[in-house]
Amino acid sequence: MEFLIINGSPRQKNTWKIIERIKDTITDLDENTTFSEINLIDENIPPCIGCYNCFTTGEHNCPHSNIIQPIVKKMTSCDGLIITSPVYAMNVTGLMKNFIDHLAYFYHRPHFFTDKAMIVVTTAGSGNKKVAKYLDETLCWWGYNQRYKLSFVHAQDIHGYLPLKTKEKIDKESIKFYSSIKDNKLSSPGMKALFQYNIWRAMAYNNHIPLDNKYWVENKLIDSEYYSEVPCSFIKKLPMKIFYKLMLRFLSKNTVKQD
Ligand SMILES: Cc1cc2nc3c(=O)[nH]c(=O)nc-3n(C[C@H](O)[C@H](O)[C@H](O)COP(=O)(O)O)c2cc1C
Repeated sequence: MEFLIINGSPRQKNTWKIIERIKDTITDLDENTTFSEINLIDENIPPCIGCYNCFTTGEHNCPHSNIIQPIVKKMTSCDGLIITSPVYAMNVTGLMKNFIDHLAYFYHRPHFFTDKAMIVVTTAGSGNKKVAKYLDETLCWWGYNQRYKLSFVHAQDIHGYLPLKTKEKIDKESIKFYSSIKDNKLSSPGMKALFQYNIWRAMAYNNHIPLDNKYWVENKLIDSEYYSEVPCSFIKKLPMKIFYKLMLRFLSKNTVKQD
């Protein structure tokens, strides 16, 4: 099994301590597991310049695609993603936000429907829950089937060690994360994921951005209430059928047609 760690901290310290514990716990379960690391600080990704190329003409036309696309390739091929950020000014770090900005096209064209991720956040005092929630929502928009969250205030004690309770929490969540990947079982999407999917599905159908429409049609995402490989009951799909129709009606009335 192959895990990819994307580290949004400019250093390998507090948050990294948690990552090391996750690595140890998962390696204890399966010694053949490998972990590759991307430290965003080393990637030197310039700021997103807002050219809109990723949305309108494709992600390969991003001026920074030479840096971004190799990372996306690793995200696509790994078995599990571990994404981390400390809290900076009550949000993710600038490094992480800039990275997410470069992947904003995944909101339009979600991709990772059969993938699972672990989110790790640390803080000195506050903001950890909010930041973990932001990362969770981001990955949910991008399609990630399951997201496991670990967020800590003062992860280490004054001697730099992880307290027993913290270790237990990390171990419990890491085992759940690893097992869900190993068992290869996909969870039924929650209502938030269903609404998000059907908003973008309706926008794609409405040809809001032709490239999105092409993606949703070519990947057969447009035909049903959720990605077909993910189990989703009729009961859950039924309100989405109605919601999708309402969205289409709303969009057809409110879209400004260009001459
Ligand atoms: C620029 C900067 C901004 C920070 N902002 C916050 C904050 O808003 N709230 C907070 O509780 N801690 C804040 N912290 C503390 C870090 O979130 C905390 O020390 C974290 O564990 C650092 O993780 P790291 O060692 O992996 O980089 C900030 C630290 C830095 C350097």
